[in-house]
Amino acid sequence: MNLEEGIQRLAERLTGASRVTVLTGAGVSTASGIPTFRDAGGMWKNFRPEEVATPEAFARDPKFVWEWYEVRRQAVLDCRPNRAHEVLAAWSERSPAFRLITQNVDGLHERAGTRNVIRFHGSLFDVGCWEECPQSPHRWRDDTVPFPELPPSCPYCGGILRPGVVWFGEMIDPEVLRRADAALECDLFLSIGTSSQVHPAAALIHTAAALGAFTVEINPEATPASPVPDLSLAGKAEVVLDRVEDVLQRRT
Ligand code: OAD
Repeated sequence: MNLEEGIQRLAERLTGASRVTVLTGAGVSTASGIPTFRDAGGMWKNFRPEEVATPEAFARDPKFVWEWYEVRRQAVLDCRPNRAHEVLAAWSERSPAFRLITQNVDGLHERAGTRNVIRFHGSLFDVGCWEECPQSPHRWRDDTVPFPELPPSCPYCGGILRPGVVWFGEMIDPEVLRRADAALECDLFLSIGTSSQVHPAAALIHTAAALGAFTVEINPEATPASPVPDLSLAGKAEVVLDRVEDVLQRRT
């Protein structure tokens, strides 16, 4: 099936589906100017995850880790949602049973106005107390950039703050996991712009398929999950989603 036929088929499925769940990864934000992790020029080509994205790295050198996150926070604030974010936001407005699970920590889905976003890996703009002091909430939003000093201090106990993202070796928040699991009970599941290499997110498409969802992958490259979907659209998210939305608009 060529890309255009696939786009028509996805538009048909969207028209007929009442419960739509989307999983996104870094590929949906590339058109906004945010690099992915594993592509050529991706973030993990310049930094090793174990140097900046593990509790051990933070314990070793919190200032260095915060400097990396501050650069990312500033870069993301300078970017804008792209057409992929906009189309997904429009679908979330139209369908009350639309849920979007994102591995992205950039907040661009929310800035595009998307409803029902499940932030699987946290947010660049959330923080938490590193010592998990009992006075503080688990995570809260603080989008100060730059902080007056690094690492920033916890307003509850005077200790230090950590970025509110999920690092390698850490568990996904149980409530987030519960909401994501519930979202897998759907008619249509789309996996968009993820390399499907990081678990447990990578397993979600398998579970959705096992639960009976029609599954779709949108990615210019094949991934380890590519044998699973009922429909594969080998194109860029911002192009494919724009085309699908165009087809939907012409039908109404
Ligand atoms: P990756 O960098 O692993 O994969 C990005 C995917 O996006 C690749 O499969 C690309 O082919 C695809 N891609 C690139 N441009 C695209 C475009 N315009 N449209 C659609 N797809 C495109 O990023 P993730 O899969 O999101 O976790 O990575 C998963 C997790 O690994 C991240 O959340 C992060 C990282 O380590 C943590 O930090 C915990």
